[in-house]
Parts: sequence; structure tokens; C-alpha cells
Amino acid sequence: MKAEVYEPREDSYLLQKYVKKYAKCKVLDMGTGSGIQAQTALEFTKDVLAVDINENAVERVNKLGIKAKVSNLFSNVKDKFDLIIFNAPYLPEEENEGEISIALSGGKQGHELTENFLKQAKKHLNPKGKILLIASTLTGDIEKIAKDLGYKIKCLETESFFFEKVSVYLLEI
Ligand SMILES: C[S@@+](CC[C@H](N)C(=O)[O-])C[C@H]1O[C@@H](n2cnc3c(N)ncnc32)[C@H](O)[C@@H]1O
Repeated sequence: MKAEVYEPREDSYLLQKYVKKYAKCKVLDMGTGSGIQAQTALEFTKDVLAVDINENAVERVNKLGIKAKVSNLFSNVKDKFDLIIFNAPYLPEEENEGEISIALSGGKQGHELTENFLKQAKKHLNPKGKILLIASTLTGDIEKIAKDLGYKIKCLETESFFFEKVSVYLLEI
């Protein structure tokens, strides 16, 4: 699928801070968009794979010299990683904004895509592997969803915006 590429916003920069802290060994940047997280991770390790469902994003990130491919969540990913990064689309469907909606909408209630991601991500973590995930107060109860799936989840930082609070979470099995 081809859509407008998500340019870095406040949520991207919030996550980037923690990519600098946790990127090591083998890293997967899920939903890479402009490639901001993959590019940051590459400052700390050489082994970074970026994926996105949006072909335009993959093309753009490849042009930056970053290994990138099209994948619907893990559909085209086989490996295991030490860090998986996901600035997930998290808005409920009615909140999204036309063309860019693939980058924003997390499903009917906002949390469906993140929940699917978390279900699949387990199989792609090395021992002691970690996930950095962005979610918002509009996403639903992500802490409960993660715990129900067997993850340990910790909120690293929350930022308040006009109509929501956006948090970056650290998850481990
Ligand atoms: C909020 S943007 C984040 C972009 C970038 N990582 C950042 O931090 O600025 C979400 C990204 O997830 C991608 N995406 C949406 N659904 C996806 C899916 N099912 N599989 C992979 N990527 C997906 C979108 O195309 C978009 O690039």
C-alpha cells in the first residue's frame, strides 16, 4: 500500500529519546515512517531492520541507506531482536485524518493494532529482549492489554498534549 509518509512529530521525538538509551545489538523499527527511529538506532548498533506497511516509507528509508522492507506487522519478518521499537498508530478510527490515516489509526477502538503487534512480537524477542512502545490515553488500557498477554510493562515517560497524554512504555517478557 502507498500512502503519505508520517513526518516526525512530538511522539516521534519522545520515543527517540529512549531509542538512544536502549538500542543495542539487533534492532527492529516497526512502522518506520520517515526512518527517524531506525536512523537513531544506527548510531548505537549496525544491525537495524526497518519495516512499514507503507511502500513510500520503505522506499524513502532505503534511500537513506537503511535496510528496510514492506511488512504488515511481522508478516515479512522472521528474525528475533534485542529491541523492537514501535511508534504505533493509536487513534480510534473516527479520530483519524484522511490520507495519513494508516499512520494514525490503530483500529476501531485505537488499541487493536497495538494488541496484534504485542501478540506477535513475543516470538520475535531474543532472551532479555525489550520493546519500546508509544501509546496514548486514547489508545485504551494498554497496560492491562500488555499484562494480559504476559508482558511486564513500565511507563518511562508521559507527555501531555492538547487532548491526550502520550506515553512511552518499556515491555519485556
Ligand atoms: C505514528 S507513525 C510512526 C512513524 C515513525 N516510526 C516515527 O516514530 O515517527 C506509524 C507508522 O506505522 C506504520 N504502520 C501502520 N500500520 C502498520 C502495519 N500493520 N504494519 C507495519 N507498519 C504499519 C505507518 O505506515 C506509519 O509509518
